[in-house]
Amino acid sequence: MRHDKINFKKKFDLSGRTIIIIGGLGLIGKSFCDVVAQYGGNVVVVDKNHKGMTAHLKYLRKYNINCEGYSIDISKKKEIKSLLNEVLLEFKNVDGLVNAHHVKPDGFFESFEDYDEHTLTKILEVNLKGTILSCQIIGSWMALNNGGSIVNMPSTYSIVAPNQNLYEGNKMGSPAVYSASKGGIRALTKYLAVYWSKNGVRVNDITPHGVWDNHEATFEKKFNDLSPMGRMSFNHEVASGLIYLLSDASSYVTGHNLVIDGGWTVW
Ligand SMILES: NC(=O)c1ccc[n+]([C@@H]2O[C@H](COP(=O)([O-])OP(=O)(O)OC[C@H]3O[C@@H](n4cnc5c(N)ncnc54)[C@H](O)[C@@H]3O)[C@@H](O)[C@H]2O)c1
Repeated sequence: MRHDKINFKKKFDLSGRTIIIIGGLGLIGKSFCDVVAQYGGNVVVVDKNHKGMTAHLKYLRKYNINCEGYSIDISKKKEIKSLLNEVLLEFKNVDGLVNAHHVKPDGFFESFEDYDEHTLTKILEVNLKGTILSCQIIGSWMALNNGGSIVNMPSTYSIVAPNQNLYEGNKMGSPAVYSASKGGIRALTKYLAVYWSKNGVRVNDITPHGVWDNHEATFEKKFNDLSPMGRMSFNHEVASGLIYLLSDASSYVTGHNLVIDGGWTVW
């Protein structure tokens, strides 16, 4: 079709589409729910946490869209299967899946040498296994039905190593297992992008970086010094990218990693 026959604004429209957002009560997840609702999509908010779910759903309903909340553990296959059944009963279809969950259990910041095996397993189970399972159960349904768009979330630390200078004199850090879990997600996305390329399911990544969340001042100062743009990001800056990847605006994009990092990984 000729470009002058295309309504480009409409390409971003999600009206009538049902998008499942795992980790939908998190810092970035909440802004994802918001932007999907603003573009007319039905929002399925999924989170292990249920505190704040009712208030979040009430907030989203002001956009006159359908939304429901489900509290499940994304590392449990049985719970994802029940989730899909419930969503299909309520919404009839699934058009998008966003994996915006991760976990920071006790002991997350421990040194590599002393890292506890249970903490390590928990991180791999939620971050990596949870993303694989949700793609397996929900993505496979999409591939067998009407297709759709999947967005997973690796990290800048699956592209580059954390600069250890960032953590000097503060309580922050980023463990090796986090990088490893996120590297696995990037590999999974590339695999599934090709695997489902003929089934109408596009699979892409969004990689955020340094999303501001009341960080301690010493950390923020160091971050700003190391960032090409000289500042942290905001969750809404990550959310704008989601609409591109979920909607028809990115109809020829699959396997891509949309890096929203203020230039962190390019110098
Ligand atoms: N915030 C950043 O700067 C940043 C940078 C790079 C990558 N990321 C990635 O972006 C994604 C979102 O990050 P965020 O900052 O919003 O994190 P967050 O910690 O604010 O939110 C994560 C959400 O996942 C939920 N969750 C945890 N375990 C779960 C489970 N077993 N089942 C279902 N839900 C579970 C939590 O309850 C929480 O609401 C994560 O994958 C993270 O690794 C974030």
